[in-house]
Amino acid sequence: MFQTNVILKLITKERELECINLRPREDQLNLVASNSDSLLHATKEITSKPFGIYAEDSMVGFILFDNEIYPDGYYWILRFMIDEKYQGKGYAKLAIKEVIKKLKNRIDCKQIRVSHVPHNIVANTLYKKSGFQDTGEVEDNGDIILSYYM
Ligand SMILES: CC(C)(COP(=O)(O)OP(=O)(O)OC[C@H]1O[C@@H](n2cnc3c(N)ncnc32)[C@H](O)[C@@H]1OP(=O)(O)O)[C@@H](O)C(=O)NCCC(=O)NCCS
Repeated sequence: MFQTNVILKLITKERELECINLRPREDQLNLVASNSDSLLHATKEITSKPFGIYAEDSMVGFILFDNEIYPDGYYWILRFMIDEKYQGKGYAKLAIKEVIKKLKNRIDCKQIRVSHVPHNIVANTLYKKSGFQDTGEVEDNGDIILSYYM
């Protein structure tokens, strides 16, 4: 039976290696940066924090998102992946639900934003099913920007 919730735990020094060892499928490697790169990125973007996505008593995925408002006025999900072994079990949808739940407490959080490469249909479907909408805006590199309105 599918789980009905996942837990997000901050990536601490002790959790780093497990996080770095998570990988999407080979054919998805061009859709998201490696988790080691994302952890490095997290240290530079001071508004964002990296979380392990936990289910089945294991870390099944990784998500990096803003825990404080970004200077552009939005809260961004910057990186997101589920390890290939754990895909297709609903964990991504549950993880997005958790992020929305966490950010609902923030009075200054009016929009959560995320972007993806145009051909990432799975990510687009997942975000739309989770309540995100097209903004009609794109990043400088052509990535499509979606928004969840709180
Ligand atoms: C995108 C990703 C996180 C989805 O993870 P997942 O755990 O497999 O997703 P879920 O099982 O929660 O599925 C959520 C929805 O995604 C869509 N989806 C998932 N796998 C799919 C597939 N193989 N084909 C089409 N749609 C799919 C479905 O709409 C699904 O909802 P449904 O079960 O109600 O139909 C995962 O595929 C991944 O890590 N991809 C590589 C990295 C990436 O693209 N990250 C996003 C960058 S913005």
